[in-house]
Amino acid sequence: MKSISVNTKPKYDILIGGGIICDIPKLIAPFCNTKRVLIVTDDIVNSLYGETVLNSLISSGFYAKKFVFENGEKSKNINTLSDILEFALENDFHRNDVFLGLGGGVVGDITGLAAALFMRGVNVIQVPTTLLSAVDSSVGGKTAIDLKRGKNSAGVFKQPCLVVIDTDIIANLPDNIFGEGMGEVIKYNVIKNLPIFDYINSNSVKENLENIIIDCLTLKKEIVEKDEFDTLGIRNLLNVGHTIAHAIEQLSNYTIPHGKAVAMGLVIESKLAVKYGICQNDTALKIEDAVKRQGLYFDVDFDKKELATACLKDKKNKDSKILFLLPQNLGSCIEVKLTLEELINLL
Ligand SMILES: NC(=O)c1ccc[n+]([C@@H]2O[C@H](COP(=O)([O-])OP(=O)(O)OC[C@H]3O[C@@H](n4cnc5c(N)ncnc54)[C@H](O)[C@@H]3O)[C@@H](O)[C@H]2O)c1
Repeated sequence: MKSISVNTKPKYDILIGGGIICDIPKLIAPFCNTKRVLIVTDDIVNSLYGETVLNSLISSGFYAKKFVFENGEKSKNINTLSDILEFALENDFHRNDVFLGLGGGVVGDITGLAAALFMRGVNVIQVPTTLLSAVDSSVGGKTAIDLKRGKNSAGVFKQPCLVVIDTDIIANLPDNIFGEGMGEVIKYNVIKNLPIFDYINSNSVKENLENIIIDCLTLKKEIVEKDEFDTLGIRNLLNVGHTIAHAIEQLSNYTIPHGKAVAMGLVIESKLAVKYGICQNDTALKIEDAVKRQGLYFDVDFDKKELATACLKDKKNKDSKILFLLPQNLGSCIEVKLTLEELINLL
């Protein structure tokens, strides 16, 4: 088992290894003095791993309950949040107990927020089960639900006290869900030149899965540690590809999954960077090729005015300009602010 320490407040470890889901009771015991755990998961993950985790906790002497909600982004809302909190109260959970998010980014985001709110804050442990949540959402402490008018529009920072990544679970994901995570993995390679493109080009992603997860998380940890609360602009780096991605998600009414939208966001933003004169065409082609090799490429056929207008709603924007982190080459991105008209012209 490998471990990465994240030096935020509080500090925590990310544990990475094959089959470690079976050791959950032992791994979480140091963070759970009361031995009382509320597992939050979705129906698909529940059918695969929910009972195993629940039973292993109960047979190790824990008081454990499981809250299950319908999978998908449409559940990341205030009703599910409220149901989790009511369930916790109904089942006698208290301040010193622990919430455990078992699932993808949707489960992790809403469990983190519920943990931050319940009794003014209980510890949360993240057990990500998608590639996207393993390399991104389970680490860094951003929690959220979607509001009717905006994705991730209500949330707080709540660092987990532990993250447990079972690489066997990630390796066994259905191809489409695994691929969505590759959108974020390619993003890390645009922020810092990692060996990921080599693995993609040689079709050896799964053989190098543990290294890929460690490389991505090491980079995310470095960025989060420098700008834990996203106030210094450093954390914005993690948003390369995301301005366009969020617009695509919104215009598709969230039918296009986040990871796929990020992949196409990277393709489009790198082409914008070429047109803006800060990036070589070669770099944009490498990004596009990686996205195609992962089966994440699709036609973004929204009208350019519609797409640009949707970008105006992005949380990063400043001074009524649209803020982009555009790639200059692999390993370097810079902030560029565009007016609506400038963006429409470039698109
Ligand atoms: N907090 C952050 O920093 C951050 C960062 C990036 C993305 N996110 C959020 O993460 C969410 C996307 O995460 P996601 O892609 O994991 O989505 P998700 O949680 O909806 O999972 C995708 C699908 O995979 C299924 N699934 C999960 N684990 C599985 C497994 N092991 N085997 C089979 N099916 C499985 C789920 O049931 C779901 O249907 C979005 O809401 C996004 O906003 C948050």
